[in-house]
Amino acid sequence: MAPSATAAVGNPYDGAAQYVNPDWHDDVLGAADVAGGALGDDMRAIANEPTYVWMDRIQAIEGIDRQHGLEWHLDEAVAQSGGSPLVFNVVIYDLPGRDCFALASNGELPATDEGLQRYKTEYIDAIAEILDRPEYDNLRIAAVIEPDSLPNLVTNISHQPCQQAAPYYREGVRYALDKLYEVGNVYSYIDAAHSGWLGWPDNAGGSAQEFASVIEGSTYGWDAVAGFVTNTANSTPLEEPFLTDPNLQVGGGQVRSANYYEWNLDFDEIDWTADLYDRMVAQGAPSRIGMLIDTSRNGWGGSERPTSVSSSSDLNTYVDESRVDRRTHRGAWCNPDGAGIGERPTASPAGHPESHLHAFVWVKPPGESDGASEDIPNDEGKGFDRMCDPTYQADKLGGAYTGALPNAPLSGWWFQDQFEMLVTNAYPAIGEGNPDPDPTDEPTDEPTDEPTDEPTDDPGTGACVAEFTVVNSWGGGFQGEVTVTGGSAGVSGWTTQFALPAGTTIGSLWNAQYSVSGSTVTASDMGWNGTLGAGQSTSFGFTANGAAPGSVAVTCAD
Ligand code: BGC
Repeated sequence: MAPSATAAVGNPYDGAAQYVNPDWHDDVLGAADVAGGALGDDMRAIANEPTYVWMDRIQAIEGIDRQHGLEWHLDEAVAQSGGSPLVFNVVIYDLPGRDCFALASNGELPATDEGLQRYKTEYIDAIAEILDRPEYDNLRIAAVIEPDSLPNLVTNISHQPCQQAAPYYREGVRYALDKLYEVGNVYSYIDAAHSGWLGWPDNAGGSAQEFASVIEGSTYGWDAVAGFVTNTANSTPLEEPFLTDPNLQVGGGQVRSANYYEWNLDFDEIDWTADLYDRMVAQGAPSRIGMLIDTSRNGWGGSERPTSVSSSSDLNTYVDESRVDRRTHRGAWCNPDGAGIGERPTASPAGHPESHLHAFVWVKPPGESDGASEDIPNDEGKGFDRMCDPTYQADKLGGAYTGALPNAPLSGWWFQDQFEMLVTNAYPAIGEGNPDPDPTDEPTDEPTDEPTDEPTDDPGTGACVAEFTVVNSWGGGFQGEVTVTGGSAGVSGWTTQFALPAGTTIGSLWNAQYSVSGSTVTASDMGWNGTLGAGQSTSFGFTANGAAPGSVAVTCAD
C-alpha cells in the first residue's frame, strides 16, 4: 500500500517556505542589470520569489545548457530548507502529442503507443525514481500535472491532433498520478486551464466530468490528488473588481452577455476556482481538495488599468471600460501586451473561502516566453504558433489581432522586453505586494546623521566574517555586495551590520533580510543561506543612492 501523502498535511504550503529556483533568480538579476535604475531595483526585489521548475522534456531531468537538472534542484531545495518545511514546486509537462491545439509548446513525444511508452519509462519513471530518494523525504513536493492537456480534451476534441492524443493524455495523466503518489511526499494538482477557457457552464460541467473520470480510472483515485491549479501560464485576472455581478443589467443586457464574456459566468480566477471546487465535490472529490492559482502574470496594473466602474449605458462600452483584463479577447494567451506580475506567492490567501485556495503560486516563471513571434528553427520540437505573432488577426479571437509582444524568443526562453513590461505593470506594484518578512524590524526612528550603533572593525564573535565590495557605480548611486564567510566552526544563521555614509539610503537589498536604524544597516540570512561551513561563503547585494564609499567595515555574528 502506498503511503498517503495528502493525508499527512492537507495544504502543503501551510507553514512552509517555497523553493527559490537559482536559475530563475540569476535570470532576474541579469535582467535587472540590463534594465538598471528603479526598474532594475524592482526586479531585484522579486528575485527571491519562488517559481516552479519545469520538466518540459526528458532531457530536462538531467539538465540542459541553461537549466539545471532535477537532482541538482532537489539538493538545492534541501539546502534551502535547512531542515524546516519547504515546498519544492515542479511542473510535469511532456505528454505524448503535447499542446494538441497549439504549436508553440509542441513536445518531443508523438501521440502513439510508443510515445506513451517512452513517457512512462523515460520520463515519469525517471522523475519518480529521483523524487523517491530518501534524502528528499522531508521535502513537500507540489506537482502541477500537464498544463492544458485535459482541458483540450473538453473543448478541442474535434481538432484532429487532440482526438489522436486523447487516449494518451488520459492514460499518461493516470500513470503520472499513480507513480507520483507512490513517492509518498508528492502533492499533485491537475491543471484546470482558466475561467476564460472553461468557465462556461457547458465547458465547466464537461471538465468536471473529464477530470473525475481520469482520476477515478487511476489506481489510487482521489487519494493521489491534492487539488487543481488554474491559470497556468495565463494572464486571466484574479478578480475583476469592477465587474462583480455577471447578471447585472446594463443597457438592456446582462453583463455576461457582453461581447467580451460571451455568456461566460466566470469572469476571473476567483470565480472559476469556486465554481470548479463545487463541481468537483459534486463529482465525488473529497472536500479537502484545494486550488492553486498561477498569479505570476495576471496583475494588469500600469497606466491602462481602470480605476473605477464605467458610467456608460452601452453594455459593451461598460464592460470594456470596466475590465482590468486589457486583452482584446480572453483567448489571447501568447505573451499578452499590457500584462503585469500578479499577487506574490502566498500560502492560504485570505478573503476567498469559496475558492478553497491552497496558495497563489508562480507556475510560469515571469520573463520566460510563451512562444516565438516568428518562425525560429529549433531542436526542442517547438512550432511557430501565429497566436504569438502580433501581425496576425486570429479567427480564434473573433478576427482580432493577437496582442502578442513582438520579438519574442521560443517558449521557455528568457524574454527581456516582456519581463520589463511585467514588472512595470505589476499589480500589486512591486514593493506593495511583498510583505516585510518581519514587520517589527521596521525602523521607527527618523534617520539622523548620527549612527546610533556605531559598528567597529571587530569581526564579531568569530562565527563568521563579512566583507564589503562595490560591484558597480553610476552617477548618484552604486551597487554593493557583502560576502559572508563561515568561521572555523561554521555558522548556522548570521547577522551582519555596517554603516553607510550619512544621507545614503538603500534602494533594494536582496538575499538577506534587513532593517535600517539611522545609518546602520543590519542584514541577516534568509534561512536558506544561513548555514555556512568553515570557509564557505554566501553573499547578499544591494543598491543605494549617493557616492560609492571607498571602504565599509562589516561585522558578522551568529
Ligand atoms: C514551454 C516550456 C517552458 C515553460 C516555462 C512552456 O510554454 O514550452 O519549455 O519550460 O513554458 O517557461
